[in-house]
Amino acid sequence: LGLECIVYMGEVDVRRQQPNVAAMELYGAKVCAVTAGSRTLKDAVNEAMRDWAANFENTHYVLGSALGPAPFPDIVREFQSVIGNEVKRQCEERGVKIGAMVACVGGGSNSIGFFSPFIDQKEPRLIGAEAGGIGPGVGENASRMTGDAARDGIMQGYKSRFLLDDDGQALPTRSISAGLDYCGIGPQLAALGKSGRIEFTAIRDEEALEAVKFFAKNEGILFALESAHAGAAAMKIAREIPKDQAVVINMSGRGDKDVFITSPVFRPEEWNQFLHAEIERLESNKDIHDAKIMTK
Ligand SMILES: Cc1ncc(COP(=O)(O)O)c(C=O)c1O
Repeated sequence: LGLECIVYMGEVDVRRQQPNVAAMELYGAKVCAVTAGSRTLKDAVNEAMRDWAANFENTHYVLGSALGPAPFPDIVREFQSVIGNEVKRQCEERGVKIGAMVACVGGGSNSIGFFSPFIDQKEPRLIGAEAGGIGPGVGENASRMTGDAARDGIMQGYKSRFLLDDDGQALPTRSISAGLDYCGIGPQLAALGKSGRIEFTAIRDEEALEAVKFFAKNEGILFALESAHAGAAAMKIAREIPKDQAVVINMSGRGDKDVFITSPVFRPEEWNQFLHAEIERLESNKDIHDAKIMTK
């Protein structure tokens, strides 16, 4: 459409999700690294809202998650519901009975879209996997529904469950996955968690990493670290589901983007050697010079 696209992203996330940044820039977006606060998703949302509020006459705010002021949670849920509708149709066509559906929950867009056609039914079980990070302590996770510091609050234009201190200020969060590293959760998910229709569980970083390996080896698919939280949660609850029923996992993204996080863990020595060789190559400039000539 020829519209200018500005993406605000926390500086920490720009660094740990560099493959995504490269792709966005190739598509033509301008990516602004946000250096305020914890330099992650919360701060990027603040900055995007500031820009929007200062430029209503020529700017449309586009939010990647099911949160923020009305009508954004509804808009995002509606568009993301293609995922759940597709699951429902395919399972009905094949006569598959679903025992449980599992999705990871950052702000909540992939999960609310995935769950939405099933919410008004009693079944299947709907399970949201949050970031359990490195432990239950303050600043060690992003467990808004299951964590000790979770409480009702108002932030970034919406009322929901947040990780907040006694003064109502956002607490720091931590997760190996940039997409789950956020102190709030979409208001619809918070309400459905309260009513009991959606169950929540916290998955720790190490469990997510194990799930990446498990699904790569056994299914030949590379889960994003975010989605791997859903994979790990599904493995935990699979034992509770009757054998003739399916557990459907929403793979919200591919793990290619996480190679700079997973490789140092899975193959530290080889990765170290690779990075050193890459730096040498860049400094020598030879291959880059050749590639530039080729792209011309
Ligand atoms: C691959 C992937 N999955 C899940 C999420 C979590 O977001 P949401 O809960 O809005 O689906 C993100 C967020 O960036 C993501 O990149």
